[in-house]
Amino acid sequence: MDFIGPHRVLSTPTSIVISGTLFLAAFLFYRWLLPKPIAGIFYNEEATKSIFGDIPSMLAHLKQSQALVDWLLQHNTRHQSPIVQVFADLFGKPMVVISDYREIQDIVMRRTKEFDKPDMISDMFYGINEDHHTVKVSNDEFRYQRKLMQDLMAPQFLHNIAVPQLHSNFKDLVDMWSEKMRLSEGRPFSVKHDIYITGLEAIWGAVFGNQGSETVTRKQIDVLSRQKNVQIPSSTDDAVEFAEVAAPPAFDAVLKLTDSLEHVGKSPFPRTLGFAMRYFPSISKHVKVKDRAVSEEIAKAEKRMAENKGDTNKMTNAVDHMLRREQIGAEKQHRAPDYQSKVMVAELFGLLIAGHDTTSTTLCWAVKFLAADQAVQSKLRSTLQSLYPAARSENRFPSAQEIATTPSNYLDACIEEIIRCGGTAGVLTRTTTTDVIILGHAIPKGTRIVMMSHGGGVMEPPFKIDDKLRNETYLKSDSRRTGDWDTENIQEFNPERWIVNGEFDASAGPHIMFGAGPRGCFGRKLAYLELRLAIVLIIWTFELQDVPEKYAGWEAIDQLTHGPIDCYVRLAKA
Ligand code: HEM
Ligand SMILES: *[C@@H]1O[C@H](CO)[C@@H](O)[C@H](O)[C@H]1NC(C)=O
Repeated sequence: MDFIGPHRVLSTPTSIVISGTLFLAAFLFYRWLLPKPIAGIFYNEEATKSIFGDIPSMLAHLKQSQALVDWLLQHNTRHQSPIVQVFADLFGKPMVVISDYREIQDIVMRRTKEFDKPDMISDMFYGINEDHHTVKVSNDEFRYQRKLMQDLMAPQFLHNIAVPQLHSNFKDLVDMWSEKMRLSEGRPFSVKHDIYITGLEAIWGAVFGNQGSETVTRKQIDVLSRQKNVQIPSSTDDAVEFAEVAAPPAFDAVLKLTDSLEHVGKSPFPRTLGFAMRYFPSISKHVKVKDRAVSEEIAKAEKRMAENKGDTNKMTNAVDHMLRREQIGAEKQHRAPDYQSKVMVAELFGLLIAGHDTTSTTLCWAVKFLAADQAVQSKLRSTLQSLYPAARSENRFPSAQEIATTPSNYLDACIEEIIRCGGTAGVLTRTTTTDVIILGHAIPKGTRIVMMSHGGGVMEPPFKIDDKLRNETYLKSDSRRTGDWDTENIQEFNPERWIVNGEFDASAGPHIMFGAGPRGCFGRKLAYLELRLAIVLIIWTFELQDVPEKYAGWEAIDQLTHGPIDCYVRLAKA
């Protein structure tokens, strides 16, 4: 008992000091975790009172919607500002969200030293494709890797190799739908899976070569053509469901891995999740299958290379060109070529992912927009009929070369408008490499800039911005000549908006769906050809009739891309 007195006297101040220090430390730590806004840029006040920032709001949104792009854009709308900040990176820095076409274009095209790397794609690829060039800043490695692909968007490759390949794949798609049209007897059916499979077959074919009659689509045609009938619902407004032919394991792996990116894109800690995902058995098993398949294709290409003895005329697909670039590059660097390198596998896989998902998603939008607008669809069909008179009189499909090389203002306008309205790639991202100024606001180095390619000026009326707030790079540029869309009908699907004085004009008004600049979309030219071939063959062959309302919703899902949840058709012969 004697000890209690002095002990108490001694311990009280000590414990106060200790607990006080702990409390202060905890408080400071808490304060440190709280979002720290960048001065002068609008944000959600509520968000700065919680260490979780805007994440609860984001998660609440994701409970009722599968899209995320609209949640980001809401911030610009709420604050009526082309520049806002959100706190969606757990314990991380604020992200700056920009919704203004002209500012976005300036950042990605002309201020490239200040802004690098498409961060969101980079985060997504970091998990399952970390050696891909999108994960790297614009350094020598990045340039070397991009150079591996340099032949693939050259006219020779596109026209001699890609176009015939794509034509054959999309003809298969149309043949398969002809069988489905016969079996569905006027009922709607979903074409989403068909489009993604054909999209993958098309890019797979361009990258690794023709798989002959062994494609999933051909197998499906084979099965369907032998069927006299299928189970159909009694109401002509109810959809028919077709059994799907199983995709080969490598295809399945690419599709599953692409789907897995949705979780990374919607995570408050994308990199950590991406990294962890490599070790999830459900993911790693697909990574293994994919690696093996890509590696086998490289081995086949090495064999062809030996046989062709460097004759570039004998190269029939992308992988051959990429191996040749590695050979040339290795020679320059005085080292032995490494065809089976991680980098080569990553670039090839990157082409498969980036090439199939984006184009397929845009094609899904195409089908929906054209079915929903019968007037545009008829006009497009009659345009095509007069565009390819030989095909019409010979009662055949327009050929690959006819489609790829016959110019058409209205077809171009339809494709451009589908891309603009679909919003397949809803956001572009970059990180600041230094302290920068955007629209008059100082933004620190290392800040993620999220740019809404579906926002101000493109699909939303632009915010009023004083030119004085823009960088001189914009003020001096000739892209100021790009027109503005009429704000009244900016959200309407209307291909005519691209026609100026009777001709298609790519600068009639804004869209920036492929990004731009040194980190812009690599596959843009191929994408246009794909869309052209697919849309022509579909509209040539079928009338896309009205789809019952329950299947015709416009709700979107954000995965790697921003696509429609439902994509149904009801077909008749054109
Ligand atoms: C309609 C179809 C497509 C759309 C809307 C699209 C859109 C985009 C966008 C927005 C980016 C990021 C650009 C930026 O941040 O500035 C991108 C990057 C990329 N895209 Fe596409 N893309 C499409 C088709 C394709 C195709 C067919 C390929 C492959 C052949 C492809 C390969 C790539 C690659 C490799 C990148 C990374 C950029 C780089 O090389 O650094 N894309 N794409
Ligand atoms: C304008 O952009 C250029 C090029 O990126 C940059 O060097 C310059 O610092 C920018 N000016 C301002 C005021 O931000």
